[in-house]
Amino acid sequence: NKILVSGIRSTGELHLGNYYGAMMDLVNYQNEYDAYFFIADLHSLTTHPNNPDLRKNVLNVAGNYLAAGLDPDKCALYAQSSIAAEVSELAMYLGMMMPLGELLRCPTFKEKAKKHPDNVNYGLVGYPVLMAADILIHRGEFVPVGDDQMVHLEMARTIVRKFRQTYGLDLFPEPLGMTKNAVRIPSLTGNGKMSKSDAADTYISMTDPQDLIEKKVKKAFSDPERVYKHQPGHPTAEGCNIFHMHTYFTDEQTRAQLETQCLSAEIGCVQCKARLAESMKEIVNPFRERREKLTEQYILDVLTDGQKRAKESAQRTIAEVRKAVGIITV
Ligand code: TYM
Repeated sequence: NKILVSGIRSTGELHLGNYYGAMMDLVNYQNEYDAYFFIADLHSLTTHPNNPDLRKNVLNVAGNYLAAGLDPDKCALYAQSSIAAEVSELAMYLGMMMPLGELLRCPTFKEKAKKHPDNVNYGLVGYPVLMAADILIHRGEFVPVGDDQMVHLEMARTIVRKFRQTYGLDLFPEPLGMTKNAVRIPSLTGNGKMSKSDAADTYISMTDPQDLIEKKVKKAFSDPERVYKHQPGHPTAEGCNIFHMHTYFTDEQTRAQLETQCLSAEIGCVQCKARLAESMKEIVNPFRERREKLTEQYILDVLTDGQKRAKESAQRTIAEVRKAVGIITV
């Protein structure tokens, strides 16, 4: 089987944007690939080195993966740190393949350095190298991630080619990103993308109860050019933030109906928003119910089993890499 690897950092809570954009599809992949999914807790240290909630956050992300429908019998689910020995050793060797200039020019690095100029550390610069190690430790070929991660995958491919040239060994495939046609769920304010670093009423959290979802959507930004209810609206992704979200969350038939009713001013924004809240609840409710049933002990058991499987694969790779590099075995 083809090998697939993906990770999510252990920061903050899951919102509808992350879930719909990155997590929901993983469930399908576990049937078709040898899949490794992990919680990138080491990566989260690059921006939050002192985090008293680290353990809690790892368990939370693991629980989210499971509530999304990952089946621990079909994939390996583990914490990145639980194979830290192998991953960080591989990152050490791969670091020698990566030109520093390229890391410093990386747009995600520049963005983070600009946002937190007081915390530009060595680990942050090496973020893409560690990410390459996460993938290559299992000799992964496919990497489902959002659009923003594609630049890191390009670097992983550079590293693979450099490794091959340096050691004359074709150990790693060049990993390919798989993004879902560039989904970018907008913020409820209509300003930029839905983001967990913004205020809580600008995004729908995957743990929001029904009435809160209704309340948030009711207040959301809609069509700025529709001032009166009897005016026709502008039901396009560009013309109306609510309609934009319908394109992701509401089925085509209902959407066509809403479009007609909006154009003829048969319905106002209030009804259209209520329908959007329904669509969102259809995704959030079953997730929240599954999430609430998971106990901490169960999640820990899954991670322990996942670690075992990830470690076997990681140790096989590390043994080959050491041989190629010429590391002494004593
Ligand atoms: P992270 O935790 O920042 O993001 C997790 C996933 O969510 C996607 N994403 C989005 N997609 C659509 N719309 C949005 N508004 C949105 N916000 C975030 C991200 O693209 C990502 O797929 N570097 C990775 C973690 C990682 C990793 C890896 C991934 C570490 N090692 C190895 C794959 C393979 C990250 O920052 O994820």
